[in-house]
Amino acid sequence: MTAPTGENCQPFRFVWDGRVLAVTHDPARARHRLDAGDHASLIALGCMWEAMDLEASALDLGLIATLAGSGVSPGKPWLTLEPTPATRTADPLRAALPIRTTDRRPFQGGTLEDARDALSAGGVKREGEPYLRLAEPDDPALRAFVLASDAVLWRDPWTIRDALRWVRYTDAEVRRTRDGLSWRNLGYPPVASLATALVRRLPPLLALGRLAGGPLETRRLLARQLRSSAAIGCIALRTPGQAGLVAAGRRAMRAWLAFARAGMAFQPLSLPSLCVYNSVTGVLPRDLPADLRAHFASGPALLGRAFDLPADAVPVWMFRAGHNGPLPHEARSLRLPLEDVLSAT
Ligand SMILES: Cc1cc2nc3c(=O)[nH]c(=O)nc-3n(C[C@H](O)[C@H](O)[C@H](O)COP(=O)(O)O)c2cc1C
Repeated sequence: MTAPTGENCQPFRFVWDGRVLAVTHDPARARHRLDAGDHASLIALGCMWEAMDLEASALDLGLIATLAGSGVSPGKPWLTLEPTPATRTADPLRAALPIRTTDRRPFQGGTLEDARDALSAGGVKREGEPYLRLAEPDDPALRAFVLASDAVLWRDPWTIRDALRWVRYTDAEVRRTRDGLSWRNLGYPPVASLATALVRRLPPLLALGRLAGGPLETRRLLARQLRSSAAIGCIALRTPGQAGLVAAGRRAMRAWLAFARAGMAFQPLSLPSLCVYNSVTGVLPRDLPADLRAHFASGPALLGRAFDLPADAVPVWMFRAGHNGPLPHEARSLRLPLEDVLSAT
């Protein structure tokens, strides 16, 4: 299962009883500042469900799905999928499952039109809920909003702690753990990756990095990532809630695969979007500095204008897409062995 999860934390476990596949959630693996309210996990659940459905389409199987979502008792399934014989046409996006990946490098440009064409060629609808909208990467207000959101990394010690927990600093560690992400795919130059290793070991060094100009440096890198993209995308919901987040994940996964199929790279931009969703739904951490809380509270109006969203739509997940060469093999994220995540009863 190559479906994406935040930081590649892979918080899902699968039990097959011969008829139904039950998907449970492991909150210890999912623990993350950005997973407040289980929101990132629910988006990832949607990505995984979509991947399963694409695989089923090629086997002439339909999936009868029951979604419980979060809030259920620990260990109880979040989702059950029951395969049933069905006449289906293999979905063309299925072929992109093995090549889909997250690319944090600067891209090699492209136009909004290229991004629109990639979505259309992949059969990804952009109308209806969850909304999927694209904007120019050099929209000044959008750019300023995304860049200002980056401050969370430097001013909220818990966000960086939760992210660095999943960085794998040697190839041996990548191969041994088969989760998290390689330092080679952080999108940072090697020296900056080394600095993150020091911060993980000695968290107070974050303050030193802040004084030494770290925030300017990561802002500069993010600005380059944005500038080099063909488009910035946003998924939004009119009806926030568990089912909506899962649907947003499914929609995002189809877009991600459509870009991969068109040879275009993709990177989620969770900070400037999920924090907005978390602000609207009241789970943004209360100990986040007040100016950052106010920044995210201003998100629905600002992103609504940038992405031309309906007035009552709430942004959920943003991403950037653009042309790029394939990600080097050693930078790709691995997955836990099937026998560790799947059991049969
Ligand atoms: C809910 C969710 C949030 C994510 N947020 C980010 C993000 O903000 N920035 C980023 O670079 N990648 C983000 N990712 C991508 C994951 O880190 C990536 O999918 C995971 O490491 C596995 O790598 P792969 O996509 O190359 O298979 C996110 C993925 C999911 C499912």
